[in-house]
Amino acid sequence: MDNLEQLAIAARQALAAAQDITALEELRVQYLGKKGNFTELLKGLGQLPPEQRPAAGAEINKVKELLQAEITARRETLEGAAVTARLAAETIDVTLPGRGQQLGGLHPINQTIERISSFFESIGFDTVEGPEIETDYYNFEALNIPAHHPARAMHDTFYVSNNQVLRTHTSPVQVRVMENREPPLKIICPGRVYRCDSDLTHSPMFHQVEGLLISEHATFAELRGVIQEFLQVFFERDSEVRFRPSYFPFTEPSAEVDIQCVICGGSGCRVCKQTGWLEVLGCGMVHPRVLELSKIDGERFRGFAFGFGVERLAMLRYGVNDLRLFFENDLRFLAQFH
Ligand code: FA5
Ligand code: MG
Repeated sequence: MDNLEQLAIAARQALAAAQDITALEELRVQYLGKKGNFTELLKGLGQLPPEQRPAAGAEINKVKELLQAEITARRETLEGAAVTARLAAETIDVTLPGRGQQLGGLHPINQTIERISSFFESIGFDTVEGPEIETDYYNFEALNIPAHHPARAMHDTFYVSNNQVLRTHTSPVQVRVMENREPPLKIICPGRVYRCDSDLTHSPMFHQVEGLLISEHATFAELRGVIQEFLQVFFERDSEVRFRPSYFPFTEPSAEVDIQCVICGGSGCRVCKQTGWLEVLGCGMVHPRVLELSKIDGERFRGFAFGFGVERLAMLRYGVNDLRLFFENDLRFLAQFH
């Protein structure tokens, strides 16, 4: 019975000192477990005279139960404290400002293509597309540029095979459309084109928008009107535009259209190579030979065609002085167009 009393005192002191659930569990095993101190004590009952055993046993069990109850109570306290501590640590300050989400945007080149397309769609042109890997026939032959024609040197062509090229312009799409549809025709074709060319105003991959109109009464004056109207709407101002006689094997007469350099206002700079002008498109009346190759009756129908450089238009509209910026995909640059 002395042992019992000492054991109870020791147990209560240990209990008071236990600061967490783990320590408490160790204590429970030590005192109340299968090999614990109280079990040992109960086993020792056999050494007592038989008549003392029941009373001693009852006394041990009473202390044991008390201790059990105290451990349980202490466990509840500790668990409650643990939950409170966790809640305090995980507090969310709902008044803090949010992290903010960055919205993406269309690439300026795509915005420009949409701008060009929406103008032409508004005056009745259909948008069509064609393949970027083109046959020699569609890229050159059908446009009146036979092999060994000096005009092939105007295009620094990437060859995929003897007979296939990365298209150097969007003009092959005109041919595909003329072969497959009946005139009158009014189409534009935006898309990627490729040339072995790279500097401030040239990139090896760039975009063009081709336009083609075939009708019984198309004239150069109508072409001029369409182009001028387009440039005015696109730039939202009356910009200086000039038509310069030029040469394309697939149009006759042909012209290139320049717009006053918006970087220097026409006084001459690096971007316009000191000329004050930037070329934005080529155009002309469709050559009779091209109509004939695509089986269009040249006696009845006439047409005009034009091809814009999309990057050039985007540079001028946004005042960008190096075309290559459009392809570096630096987010600091792109974000300015959102
Ligand atoms: C052509 O490609 C003709 N197919 C355009 C055409 C269509 C004429 C229909 C007549 C009838 P050109 O090679 O000039 O023409 O190119 C047209 C436009 O593309 C140029 O005015 C210029 O704005 C742009 N361009 C040409 N090369 C590059 C390049 N390497 N990088 C960016 N833009 C370019
Ligand atoms: Mg040109």
